[in-house]
Amino acid sequence: MAVAQSLSHVFPLGSRLDERGRLEVGGCDAIELAAEFGTPAYVVAEEDLRSRARAYQGAIRDAGQDDFQVTFAAKAFPCTAVMGLFAQEGLGCDVASAGELHLALRAGFDPAAIVVHGNARGEAELAGAVAAGVGLIVIDNMDDIDRLERLGAEQRVLIRVTPGVRGETHEKISTGQADSKFGLGPSDVTLAIERVRGVAGLELAGLHMHIGSQLFDVGPFRAAIAVLAGLGDFPVYDLGGGLGVAYRTAQRPPTVEEFVGGLIGAAHERLGRDRRLLIEPGRSLVANGVVTLYTVESVKHNVSTWVGVDGGMSDNLRPMLYNAEYEAEIADRFGGSTRCHVTGKHCESGDVIVRDAVLDEPRPGDILVTPATGAYGHAMANNYNGVPRPPVIFCKDGGARVVVRRETVEDLHVRDL
Ligand code: LLP
Repeated sequence: MAVAQSLSHVFPLGSRLDERGRLEVGGCDAIELAAEFGTPAYVVAEEDLRSRARAYQGAIRDAGQDDFQVTFAAKAFPCTAVMGLFAQEGLGCDVASAGELHLALRAGFDPAAIVVHGNARGEAELAGAVAAGVGLIVIDNMDDIDRLERLGAEQRVLIRVTPGVRGETHEKISTGQADSKFGLGPSDVTLAIERVRGVAGLELAGLHMHIGSQLFDVGPFRAAIAVLAGLGDFPVYDLGGGLGVAYRTAQRPPTVEEFVGGLIGAAHERLGRDRRLLIEPGRSLVANGVVTLYTVESVKHNVSTWVGVDGGMSDNLRPMLYNAEYEAEIADRFGGSTRCHVTGKHCESGDVIVRDAVLDEPRPGDILVTPATGAYGHAMANNYNGVPRPPVIFCKDGGARVVVRRETVEDLHVRDL
């Protein structure tokens, strides 16, 4: 018999175990959500996302920076409802493709608050961004400059700098090191600055950096800011995203206040106090505000115990791509002592969502929850094995609403001709 536990910080703010030991997110009972909307499902605690947006804005003001924009990196959760919520909170939006730009405009972002990224953009993609009136286009390579010149664009731009620093994270999500596919190294930046200044219509507002993702140490950010400082003096600096989150209870990333304090402190010291500063958090705005609910379909006792659920690598690719570790619980029986692997339903052995989970005697029909699935979950969802993608459900004050419906098997052939 499991003993109810208080909830760890990996779960959404405001979620709890009720007196029966059942998980409640945004005031909604997880078991009832599963019954009403089916599984798998992404369950979003709306107030969690709002309070993280406010925490970023408050922390920047508290650090003594008045001219700033917190720019949501839409790639982390490119869902109109999530983006619309952040637009309401006064954030800007970072988009990395014409598709994300389309969503950002649909979600209600002021085009002037949109920052456009990309390392391999065609003329049409850049022309679309210019025509939409986006605030900033981030130049990643010399070809971008040629294209914007050919388009005769009237556009404010930033140049993305690869500062040559490496933070501690998975190599697939490290971007600040020399020879990254993103941005220009310091000597090429100097050439790019001259080149942009020679193009009528382009206004060079400043520099951009994004050194990587899921980072726990502010040190590499400080080192990168020092590199930017050596490249000239500009009115605008975009310091990128990258703050790491806790996927497991044992992880203690810096708080938003600690992270922002370190970043703004370094910017004031190195870049000056009266610059406009942008930051582009993705993961840290959305990861912990979301849980995924699954149904346990099978429990197999082999050498290990294998708990099979009705989703997997089609709704969360991160364990397979980055060896990302998650926690799992049975939604109405937290705790327990059954050591097992939680696997998805897909036809490959790599489809393991949580290795060495400890659950309370899992059995078919149980609702299993994995916390901290808001970032890059829905974003990288796919239809492997013809599995329809889950809905997105917003919960607030005990009320639940579907903001993205579940995909159907008919959706799998809507593009057939
Ligand atoms: N700005 C730029 C230019 C970026 O490329 C990214 C993330 C961000 C901001 C937001 O970074 P964040 O605050 O989320 O760390 N699929 C991977 C993550 C890829 C990150 C790509 N760029 C994952 O699931 O871990």
